Amino acid sequence: LKFALGAVWGKDLPSGEVLSSLKSRVLSAFHDLVNRKDPSWLGWMDLPDQEVDGVMEAADWLRGFDAFVQVGIGGSALGNLMLHQALIGDIEMKTAKPCFYLADNPDPMKLQEMWKDLEGRRFALVGVSKSGSTAETTSQFMWFLDKLKGSYDSVLLITDPEGGIFRKFVNETGCRSLPLRSDVGGRYSVLSPVGLLSAAALGIPVDQLLEGARAMRDGLISQGDFDRNPAMRLAACHLYHEISQRPMAVMMPYSSRLERFSEWFAQLWGESLGKEGRGTTPIRALGAIDQHSQVQLYMEGPDDKFFTIIDVAFPQDVAIPQASSEALKSLDYLAGKGLGEMLRKEAMATASALAGAGRPVMWIQMERLDPRSLGELIFFYQFTTAITGLAMGVNPFDQPGVEQGKRYTYGLMGRPGFEEEAERAERAFDV
Ligand code: PA5
Repeated sequence: LKFALGAVWGKDLPSGEVLSSLKSRVLSAFHDLVNRKDPSWLGWMDLPDQEVDGVMEAADWLRGFDAFVQVGIGGSALGNLMLHQALIGDIEMKTAKPCFYLADNPDPMKLQEMWKDLEGRRFALVGVSKSGSTAETTSQFMWFLDKLKGSYDSVLLITDPEGGIFRKFVNETGCRSLPLRSDVGGRYSVLSPVGLLSAAALGIPVDQLLEGARAMRDGLISQGDFDRNPAMRLAACHLYHEISQRPMAVMMPYSSRLERFSEWFAQLWGESLGKEGRGTTPIRALGAIDQHSQVQLYMEGPDDKFFTIIDVAFPQDVAIPQASSEALKSLDYLAGKGLGEMLRKEAMATASALAGAGRPVMWIQMERLDPRSLGELIFFYQFTTAITGLAMGVNPFDQPGVEQGKRYTYGLMGRPGFEEEAERAERAFDV
């Protein structure tokens, strides 16, 4: 990955006292992270070194089915979609073998549609939940288990190695399982079996993903110089723009294959940093589509956003042919050029236009989109998010707001022990 190391065009980091205070907070966050001051949350930093034999064996097993359904939500789902889209592609995924289905939102219509496709086929059920109790996941797990008519041989769970309902189920039934280390939070788990299993079953070389992540980790950790460490600089930029009344962070890759990367980023960023009245709201955008939708607002609306544009080099381009009729002659300026070339020029156009309008822009360039470079990008953002949170003085690894929502759902659905939450949630509707 190449970064525009100045990090911000249009509006650079400030100088003087503001910069030195930002620098010292970011440097201290960096040291806390690399010295593992609080190791109980930092298992994600070791994931690039993990042995993947168990994952590969389970992936082989999944390939023996016509299809597999993953039930999971949030950090137990978004990373899978991101990896598949980026490294296989949406259209190829439609004919992938085995077929992959994701049951995240417990939408009955979606589930029924899925079942129409699945009925009569041999499918495996992969349940993913770190806590092993999230209602959206456990409810759909029960639904598919019922369809499997108690065939525990077709079930695999990825969950905490010791606690939770899913772990109890593994112990009781002896079904397959893979551990999700307790020191890895959901949104930091894409490089654990959570993200790797479905990727490996679909043929993604997960060793290369981990290799990229390892290279990025080692590079970032060994670079203690603030000015030469892109994660530190980017964390400082985000902090600076947060305190400068820019409460939004727009992530705008210029490749359809990275649309879901923005979704994944949005969870990582929002859930890690949105705490104690702090944090910036992640906005998912896609180039060039949002040039024709959001860029008007980005250019001339309120100056309240920090932009990241990801420019991707395409391995093969598609050439635009010569005009075939007199009416199209004026389009000959496009002839012989590539669509990918045009998309990259559009990324440049948006970045320069935004910068020209005085809006802060960070530019990331990917020389290729392959497992290795995606592993780099993933680790880069996990690391940057962690530093940003630590420098803000919040815990970037917990999610009390999410847990509160889970408890209210348990209460409203009648789970014993959550009666008070049910009452509180219902009270809000007493109007
Ligand atoms: O990042 C997180 O911890 C959350 O978003 C979880 O991934 C999400 O709530 C699902 O939780 P679980 O994997 O425990 O079912």
